[in-house]
Amino acid sequence: MNSKLENMLNEVLKILKYDYKAKVVKSNIENIDFQCDDAFKLAKIYHKAPFIIAEEIVNKLKENENFEEYFKEVNVAKPGFINMVVSDKLISQSLRELMKKDKLGATKENETIVLDYGGPNVAKPLHVGHLRPAIIGQAIYNILKFKGNKTIGDVHLGDIGAQMGQVIYGIIQDFPNTKYEDITFDLDYLNITYPKMSALCKENEEVRKKCAEITKKLQEGDKNYQILWKKIYDLSVSDIKRIYDYLNVHFDYWYGESDSYKQFPEMMEYLDKLSCVKIDDGAKIIDVKEEDDKIEIPPCIIQKSDGAYLYATSDLGTIWQREKEFQPDEIIYIVDGRQSMHFTQVFRAAKKTGIYKGKLFHYGNGTVNGKDNKPFKTRNGDALKLEDLIKEVKDEFISKREENKNMDKEDVNKIVNAILKFADLQNDLTKNYIFDIKKFSEVNGKTGPYLLYTYLRINKLLKEEKGKLSDTIYNDVDRNLRLKLLEVSAVINEASKERKPHIIASYLYELCVIANNFYQENHVSNLKGQIKIDYNIVLTYNNLVLKTLLSLLGIEIPKSM
Ligand code: ARG
Repeated sequence: MNSKLENMLNEVLKILKYDYKAKVVKSNIENIDFQCDDAFKLAKIYHKAPFIIAEEIVNKLKENENFEEYFKEVNVAKPGFINMVVSDKLISQSLRELMKKDKLGATKENETIVLDYGGPNVAKPLHVGHLRPAIIGQAIYNILKFKGNKTIGDVHLGDIGAQMGQVIYGIIQDFPNTKYEDITFDLDYLNITYPKMSALCKENEEVRKKCAEITKKLQEGDKNYQILWKKIYDLSVSDIKRIYDYLNVHFDYWYGESDSYKQFPEMMEYLDKLSCVKIDDGAKIIDVKEEDDKIEIPPCIIQKSDGAYLYATSDLGTIWQREKEFQPDEIIYIVDGRQSMHFTQVFRAAKKTGIYKGKLFHYGNGTVNGKDNKPFKTRNGDALKLEDLIKEVKDEFISKREENKNMDKEDVNKIVNAILKFADLQNDLTKNYIFDIKKFSEVNGKTGPYLLYTYLRINKLLKEEKGKLSDTIYNDVDRNLRLKLLEVSAVINEASKERKPHIIASYLYELCVIANNFYQENHVSNLKGQIKIDYNIVLTYNNLVLKTLLSLLGIEIPKSM
């Protein structure tokens, strides 16, 4: 719709000899559909009063042979805004065109994009901090894929950090006279051993050293420790997968930091030849300062003086591997915003060393906060396990109404997902938000259940019916709904360009409010004739939009609720 109006305005600008590309935006003023503020920009370029330019444009526009077909009314508001009310015919015609288009009219892209949105650490259960990267990352993945890009999701497990040495040491202590091959343990054992060892390391210097030694040997490829490592890995990763599956979060690759270590010999040989890689106090560093830095960016350390590698080395090795395997146009990281310094250093190091020439972006997510507006913690100060959070939401939903107790299990899980995801995705991903279980699981308000309910309610009204959408618009809610539906292509394009799923979430909510008004004011089931056909077509398309956008946010629709 906007582009139709822009094309028409561009013709006018050309006639008036203004060298400018018109921009039309949706208006927030009541009873005005669209607005064009170009007169202000043209005033600066052509040194004229904006009001005069706006009047010139509108007068010329009215001479256009299609004016009546396009507009109900166009006028100038002081000091130079052009306000437009479009014709019913234009709305209906645009909607008919949109309905014929593939992908809800979104434009197509075809880049290869790697997305890094997991980052869980093996041997530790997923906690609440893993929720946002997973939900946001999967949504961005879905949106970019929908647009036609080749998307590659990588979980990027933290599988070779300090926790691995600690747990291995714990196991060796607990099974003193057993060959590593013969040692067996289960997930419960692992869930007890990690916190136990981590606490022990904090208070006991000797244990800490032993554990660090094991970690270092493991990183160097020690075959014996790898036997235990593999046992820990298998148990822990299948548990991590189980939770991601519940959330409908999937990865194409389950690579880990340990895979990046395999790249180090080759990468280090490459780096050692570069003049930007320096030795400082025995450590290998890359200076990544830039002239107009507002804050000090410390050098990126890639190897410590004792030979040990660091988090940054592992991320560089991962980029090295991704370039080798996928040659992506772009790598996107959805990782806690508090790691932004790390990514600044790594990205600059990758560019400076020529390891990667494509685009690198860190979308730093905000935190999920408790009532005190601090990152969610359990009563004893630990990070809340993701599984426990999911359970709390599920319990809250089930206890809300008597009927929920007997609901289909799959449906309950879909609703729990909708509660969690919509609570999260309605916020700009960079912002923190307070997790309010009661509010988020209501069926009224800006919640996942509200969207699902709207879809299901409308779905019940739909009929298998033949016919074509006519030009008639029957009332204001009808008009609002059609105009809102016409925004969908731009909404998807914008969310994709900005990598901001909340743009889709906000639109979804607004659409649902209008759609609810629509069927409350129009008693759809009692109608006959063309109006019945028209409403059925509009509502059918409404639900296609709802379902498609919900699926981009990772939200599935239950059979009933
Ligand atoms: N495992 C890391 C952590 O717990 C997060 C990894 C994020 N991804 C990355 N490529 N660095 O902090």
